[in-house]
Amino acid sequence: MSDTVKAPLVHASDEFISRAHVDASGYEAMYKASIDNPEAFWAEHGRRIDWIKPFTKVRNVNFDFGQVDIKWFEDGTLNVSANCIDRHLVTRGDQTAIIFEPDDPATPAQHITYKELLEQTSRMANVLKEHGVSKGDRVVLYLPMIPEAAYAMLACARIGAIHSIVFGGFSPDALAQRINDSEAVAVITADTAPRGGRRTALKSNTDKALTDCSDRVKCFVVKHTGDQTTWVQGRDVDLKAEMAEAAPYCAYTEVGAEDPLFVLYTSGSTGKPKGVVHTSGGYLVYAAMTHQYTFDYHDGDVFWCTADVGWVTGHSYIIYGPLANGATTLMFEGVPTYPDAGRFWEVCAKHRVNQFYTAPTAIRALMAHGPDHVEKHDLSSLRLLGTVGEPINPEAWNWYNTHVGKGKCPIVDTWWQTETGGHLITPLPGAVPTKPGSATKPFFGVKPVVLEAESGKEIESTEAEGVLCIADSWPGQMRTVWGDHQRFQETYFQQYKGYYFSGDGCRRDADGYYWITGRVDDVINVSGHRMGTAEVESALVAHEVVAEAAVVGYPHEIKGQGIYAYVTLMNGVEPTEDLRKDLVKWVRQEIGPIASPDLIQWAPGLPKTRSGKIMRRILRKIAENDYGALGDTSTLAEPAVVDDLIENRMNRG
Ligand code: WTA
Repeated sequence: MSDTVKAPLVHASDEFISRAHVDASGYEAMYKASIDNPEAFWAEHGRRIDWIKPFTKVRNVNFDFGQVDIKWFEDGTLNVSANCIDRHLVTRGDQTAIIFEPDDPATPAQHITYKELLEQTSRMANVLKEHGVSKGDRVVLYLPMIPEAAYAMLACARIGAIHSIVFGGFSPDALAQRINDSEAVAVITADTAPRGGRRTALKSNTDKALTDCSDRVKCFVVKHTGDQTTWVQGRDVDLKAEMAEAAPYCAYTEVGAEDPLFVLYTSGSTGKPKGVVHTSGGYLVYAAMTHQYTFDYHDGDVFWCTADVGWVTGHSYIIYGPLANGATTLMFEGVPTYPDAGRFWEVCAKHRVNQFYTAPTAIRALMAHGPDHVEKHDLSSLRLLGTVGEPINPEAWNWYNTHVGKGKCPIVDTWWQTETGGHLITPLPGAVPTKPGSATKPFFGVKPVVLEAESGKEIESTEAEGVLCIADSWPGQMRTVWGDHQRFQETYFQQYKGYYFSGDGCRRDADGYYWITGRVDDVINVSGHRMGTAEVESALVAHEVVAEAAVVGYPHEIKGQGIYAYVTLMNGVEPTEDLRKDLVKWVRQEIGPIASPDLIQWAPGLPKTRSGKIMRRILRKIAENDYGALGDTSTLAEPAVVDDLIENRMNRG
């Protein structure tokens, strides 16, 4: 066990504890109740949202490989948009639902009330309906972080359509792949997306993508910046103009608890990205409940999650969780370093933010600019800080705690995944003392187990190290992979029978605290974004000069992990610096900037077993500059290959 596991507990202040939703004994009691009698527990908490027809069945779950089937509240009906908007109107119609902070600090922020949110969402829903979008249809959203992104999500939910958001940093190819895989009937995009003073040409990317898609796909365009774009008559719709003409109210559609709310593509260890399917009832209950407890959210609080709605964090903790709870949620269009590295803190001060939730990579990037950028802003409104996406290293934790939290804000390190819909392992502030770097304890209803990686045997002792699985379902769990239930079962339920396999490794210390040690599969975590190494490899080998490629992660000071690519060129191709740059550019075009390799090493050969399997373990070690400990190399077909790779390694830090 490393020293950090013995780290002292960090307790919240008495003042914080006195108003927290749960205290230590409350957490223990509620957790126990949720595990002893999940039916009763979730029957009660399932009622935190409004049902049109109340459910009578709470859960119906089978984790057996071959028959995996997950249903929650299955005979209930509801509408998610009505839960996020309409039900708040009586008590908080004039309260701000969304604060929109634009990229350019000189542009005024917008405060959108719940009443206005209903009107804008309704108008957009009516436009979608007029163009034939109906219940069950898939609609791809490729948008900046603007209020229209929230309207679009809620408009889809209002009419029972299924949204699938594609992060604005993805390439036209990646967008086309997702439109085609989900068989979407429409895309909602914007002319251009300003970020950090630069503009991404979303509409022009969409035009390129749509050349690879069915002619029937409609394209709704938000004229956001007014930048010039091409226009395809009959296909493109000026969304804002039609919203202005549309009726200001749209009745919501009744959907089943298990009808899909959204599909969100995420990277796995093999093949193309998977469409993670989340359904309506269980997801909303779970997103709302975790938002309330993890962030100790109280009525009237201003909550800011800095993620993009293109990721699951944005779905659950910018939109669905906060709005279901009637919160004021902040949407930020920009980046942390524009116009300077104090932007986050300036925005916190300006809008009197109470809970602030971001990624360790952002903290590390800001840390590098020094504390002055923080110190000059009034952060007295902050009560709680959160992190997500990767383990937080002690330096970043200390900086966040000292300079941002002034030592008085609990820091919740939330472990979860696109697949889980909401937090699974996280401290509840005030109830669970934290240890810097540990996600601490499970949320209500979550049964984490640590298995021996090889045998799959559950480790019963409190102190344990192995792979992290979950022994039973929770309402926010993904239900299937879009169009491929078999792949869903194979990915999450085949290797360790009877469990949901997270793909992460972990340690459990003597206090029963969980420490996530990172992915045990070929997924890497770059700046808090999940990337399948197989995806980057297939982009590289699609280039005409590349014969073979292997991609691994390596420790990166800011990004957490960087992308390290070993590339074998076609015979006779000269490895040059220009070619290296070309390949980076190529991957950016194929997938998007987030997939750009940080280091490319020319590899005359890759280390393979005699049966031709690439020995990634060795490639990882070399990329980590840890080549002294390569482990067993006796199965290598050509040991000399490794000497060459070590000799020419790119990371000597
Ligand atoms: C990693 C993001 C350590 C983990 C919500 C997981 C974390 C993957 C943490 C999911 C954390 C997320 N500590 N690692 N607090 N949170 N991860 O699907 O490897 O984009 O499997 O979901 O991020 O990434 P995803």
